[in-house]
Amino acid sequence: MTAPFQKHELPGRVEWNSNPAGLPKIQVASAFSTAEIYPHGAHVTRFQQNGEPPLLFLSRQSLFASDKAIRGGIPVCFPWFGTREGAVMHGFARLTTWELTETAADPQGRVKLIFRLPPERLVAAGWPPAYVTLTVTVAERLTLQLAVRNDTAQAFVFEDCLHTYFAVGDISQVEITGLKGVQYLDKVEQFARKLETGDAIKISSEVDRVYLNTTGTVEIRDAKWHRTITVAKSGSASTVVWNPWQAKARAMTDFGDDEYPGMVCVESGNVGESKVMLQPGQSAALQVTLSSSPWP
Ligand code: BG6
Repeated sequence: MTAPFQKHELPGRVEWNSNPAGLPKIQVASAFSTAEIYPHGAHVTRFQQNGEPPLLFLSRQSLFASDKAIRGGIPVCFPWFGTREGAVMHGFARLTTWELTETAADPQGRVKLIFRLPPERLVAAGWPPAYVTLTVTVAERLTLQLAVRNDTAQAFVFEDCLHTYFAVGDISQVEITGLKGVQYLDKVEQFARKLETGDAIKISSEVDRVYLNTTGTVEIRDAKWHRTITVAKSGSASTVVWNPWQAKARAMTDFGDDEYPGMVCVESGNVGESKVMLQPGQSAALQVTLSSSPWP
């Protein structure tokens, strides 16, 4: 590969490659797991602990084009979430090529990569040139930290979300726990405000919910694959749960009609009522740690 693609390589740990569509990607091998990350969107598309099934869902129909978000993995939604008049859905960060600024491997074989959102991209979109990084740690677990530091002279408000697509054996055999007693906005019913009353959420139709003021850990219990995925987070007040189900799956050109039973999104961030305001000199960090264990 040519010089720009060798930047920050660590032989055997961090290596540049490209996918069949020619989009550059980074292959990561820790002592415990493997991962793939695209600088396009600083988008983690794969994480797999050695000897286990993949943790993340990636659509076989995903487009790998510079003007499209990858369908699956962990899109980084920033500096807004959802629709915004006259602008792209979920912010421009997932459509931007981030710069890989640092890589490191520790003696135990954990690998860390740091990406930076180019400040010119923020300025071009009318945002202050804040210092925005995504740190990805590939080890026994997968940890992502989206850090925003306002080293500009003006305050600004943003939303962020690590829009994680998890791979599951069969959505009809999945239970999501950790959200009982939490209020949510039901996007399938015009943002109606509701209260989660069940111990576990089961999905049997389109689900698109923004859970409010919730900082707790969420578990995805997958009876078919006998595993529990744990989504632990900090610096996040919102959790979004999404499965497009049949009709929406058919309507999406970059998602297979039959793929919805094999995925669920549990997204951690700060959206809507929980937007983040940063004064000059302030910073914020949204972090998720994703892991899995055998269950039951
Ligand atoms: C979810 C939203 O986070 O992302 C849904 O709550 C949306 O409303 C979904 O459909 C996928 O968005 P996109 O832009 O990646 O198709």
